[in-house]
Amino acid sequence: MKTSPKVIAALQSRLVSELTARNQYAAHLAFAKVAGYTKLAAYISERIADEDKHVGALANRLVLGETVPDVTRIDPIKTASDFAEALRLDLASETQARADYNADVGMCIAEGDAGTRVIFETILADEEDHIEDAEQRLAQIEAMGIDNWLSAQL
Ligand SMILES: [Fe+2]
Ligand SMILES: [Fe+2]
Repeated sequence: MKTSPKVIAALQSRLVSELTARNQYAAHLAFAKVAGYTKLAAYISERIADEDKHVGALANRLVLGETVPDVTRIDPIKTASDFAEALRLDLASETQARADYNADVGMCIAEGDAGTRVIFETILADEEDHIEDAEQRLAQIEAMGIDNWLSAQL
């Protein structure tokens, strides 16, 4: 299916970001598991499942646009073994994703590609949920203190 080069470039760019996000979460999942924080690990596992869905949706759309998805590239990953800092890093990635998808929705409208726009909007709604969840957890840490919060993650 004929797809505008701008739309293809955005799909590929978002694919790199989603692969980066899922790998960043995977590193934080490993830290949480090793430390025995079962509830935190379950939350991060859910995030990875969502980001993997995004990877799949973007890759499918690239194939429909007669483009082979490049799944070999990722951006530098920002990890922290301090769990509050890890949440802040993940929140920063999610906030950047929100800005990127919003810009890409605008670009799709300008390019007259409603099909890709819907895909970007669907993913954007998930990223906004992810932002909300991370902000809630950081607010809990602020209120309870990190030690009490981590005790509740066992
Ligand atoms: Fe995502
Ligand atoms: Fe996300």
